[in-house]
Formats: sequence, structure tokens, C-alpha cells
Amino acid sequence: MQGFRGAAVLRDLIGSAGAGDAAIAAAVARIGADEVAGILVDELLNRAELQAIPQLAERPLVVLFELTAPGGPVRHWVQVGGGKTTHGPDDLGSAHATVDLPLTELVRVVFGPRGEGELKGHRIRWRDFEDQAALAADMHVVPVLQHLLSGTTRQPVDLAGLSLRQGSDKWGLHFYSQHYERHFEPYRDRPLTVLELGIGGYQDPAAGGGSLRTWKRFLPRALVFGVDIFDKSGVAEQRIYPIKGDQSDPAFLESLAAEIGPIDIVIDDGSHYCPHVVTAFHTLYKHVAPGGLYVIEDLQTSYWPGYGGSSENRNDPATSMGLLKELVDGLNHAEYQLEGYEPSEYDLTIAGMHFYHNLAVLEKGRNEEASLPRWVGRERVV
Ligand SMILES: C[S@@+](CC[C@H](N)C(=O)[O-])C[C@H]1O[C@@H](n2cnc3c(N)ncnc32)[C@H](O)[C@@H]1O
Repeated sequence: MQGFRGAAVLRDLIGSAGAGDAAIAAAVARIGADEVAGILVDELLNRAELQAIPQLAERPLVVLFELTAPGGPVRHWVQVGGGKTTHGPDDLGSAHATVDLPLTELVRVVFGPRGEGELKGHRIRWRDFEDQAALAADMHVVPVLQHLLSGTTRQPVDLAGLSLRQGSDKWGLHFYSQHYERHFEPYRDRPLTVLELGIGGYQDPAAGGGSLRTWKRFLPRALVFGVDIFDKSGVAEQRIYPIKGDQSDPAFLESLAAEIGPIDIVIDDGSHYCPHVVTAFHTLYKHVAPGGLYVIEDLQTSYWPGYGGSSENRNDPATSMGLLKELVDGLNHAEYQLEGYEPSEYDLTIAGMHFYHNLAVLEKGRNEEASLPRWVGRERVV
């Protein structure tokens, strides 16, 4: 993880957030309270979706997080409005609202799993609470604070809406979100490594990244890595790591997986060229963690000769669907009547395959269930 700035620190902090206050305190001591405060506030700002506040103030508003830590309070300022949002440890002067709470509690509610408790040790101080005119003038600080604190609760997320707001085509052009919602829901509370092939936006380094941002929001404990053939450095943000590379290059994929793996979820939304899909699968599947998922999108290209597919030879394993159809038999490998058949790694570890329009979701697990006993006749009786 050396090449990914901050990733090891985030993994440490996120992991600690589900392991109790002592583990959180140890992680804070390792990382440093100031850095942890910055990470948490960045995360809250990302979840706040402040642009949704109507007529957000032209005048800048200041919110101060005053976080109790063993070495004394850590202060982190947020400035919103006036055309930009910033945050940092520099004193921005008198804050319109100050949130007081223990740093360990904020780590737990931001990065811990659901069920680890809601925010309860907090206290909010309004600067102009007793001054009606002043409070009325800067009334927007109330929704700003509400939005900021909303990131401490884990509300249900409408993945289709989220994906639309983040600028991904996973719903509305394709209709994948409902399937993702079902398959990814059990992963929302886990620390995860997610890798998506294909960031979007093509040549423009700052364009695209809609799905990476969607996964960041939907999977709040995930580090989200994205690969694209073009430089997409402009979409980088906390917990999002764009990497320039070619999904058809096994050496590149191997070195990436060696650095970031094991990977919990791989999503192939890259070139959709069948030979690339097949190469990426054969290279990356082995780096998927047990219990993880491998997802392939846009399987329509499996039938399109221009993408190395075929509408006639639909079982050709050189096409994406041909590969998947070959793998599906492996679910039942224990039933083969083939003397000396040695099950492959795919046979033994693909535990489920789910197919939807142009989308396949493979579950990695253990597929070692034996066949029925030998005394059960293999010949039809009636
Ligand atoms: C459909 S877009 C990805 C959209 C994005 N996943 C989303 O849902 O917002 C496909 C991306 O794959 C990239 N791409 C094309 N060929 C590639 C290759 N061989 N390796 C990696 N990325 C590739 C393109 O540059 C493009 O940005």
C-alpha cells in the first residue's frame, strides 16, 4: 500500500472502528489525533451532500469540531459557503456552531459497523443562540450542521439515486443498481477493498469516477481502487484511488493485486472487449478474498463481433458469456461422471453465480459439497 497515499492509515483506522474503544484509541495514538480529526471531517463533508441545501449561504459559515482526545482537545474547522468548502486545523475564528464530542466516538460512528451505536456524547454550541437577529442572518448553519452530522448515522441508501447523483451510468442507462443493492448490502458493514476496472470519463483526467464515488458512499468502510487506461488522477479523493493501467495486461494486474489484495469486490466495467474481460478474470479472480464477489458488467458485448463476441458461437469460452457458461457447470462438478476428474480452483471456489440482463455476479466461497452417496442409483428407476 506504499504507493497509495494514506491508504494504510485509513485501513488501520477503519479496522479499529469496529473493534472497541481501546482499539480505536490505539489507532489514534499510532496515526495522530490531528490526522484522524481531518480524516473524519473529510468523510462527514463527503457524506453531507451540502449542495442539496437550498440557497446555501453566500457568506461563509464556520463550524468547529472540538474533539476530546487523551492529549487534550483537537480542533478542526470547516468553512462552507461563499463558493467553496474547506476544512483544516487552522483557526478560522469564531465558529457559528461548535460540535463537542470525544474523538473515539466520532471514529466509531463514522467508520464502525452499524449496531456500534449512534452519536450520543455530543454537545452543540451555537454562537448566536441568544441573538435572534444574528442567528436569523446565518440560519443556514442549522442545515449545514444537520447535513454534517447525518454522516454519523447509517441510513438506508437508494443506490439508484446515489449513482445518478454521482454521475455513474449504472442506473438509467444500464439498470444494475437494484442488483448491486441486493448483492452489496451484506458488505456495507465490513472493512473492504474494492477494485473497479473502468473509471469513466475517458481522456479527461478529472471526468468520470461516478461509480467510485457511489461505492465510497454505499460502502462506508471500503477503500475503493479504480483502474483506467487513461490518467484519471483528477478523481482521487479520500478512500478513492485511481490507477492508470490496462486491464488486458496481466503483469500490471498482478502487481496491483499484490499491493492492494486480497480484494473483496472486483467490478469489471472497463473496455468490455471479450479478450480483456477474460484476461482480467483469469488474472484477478485468484486475488478475490473468500466470501468476496467478482462482477462483470455490459455482457451485451459477448454477442457483438466488434468486441470479440459472437451471436452464433454463444458458448465460445473466448467470449465473456462463453467463459461464464463454462464456469457455471463447475458449481456441479461433484456430479460429473468422469473418472479421475480433478476439480479446478474455479470449481472449488465459485459458490454462486447470478445472472441479470448484461450483468453477472460471482460469489467466491467454498463449493466442496459432495454428491449423493454411491448407493443412490445413477440410473433412472421409473
Ligand atoms: C463505461 S466507462 C466506466 C464507467 C464507470 N465505471 C461508472 O460506472 O461510472 C469505461 C472506462 O473504461 C476505460 N477503459 C477502456 N479500455 C480499458 C482498458 N483496456 N483497461 C482499463 N480501462 C479501460 C475507459 O477509458 C472508460 O473510462
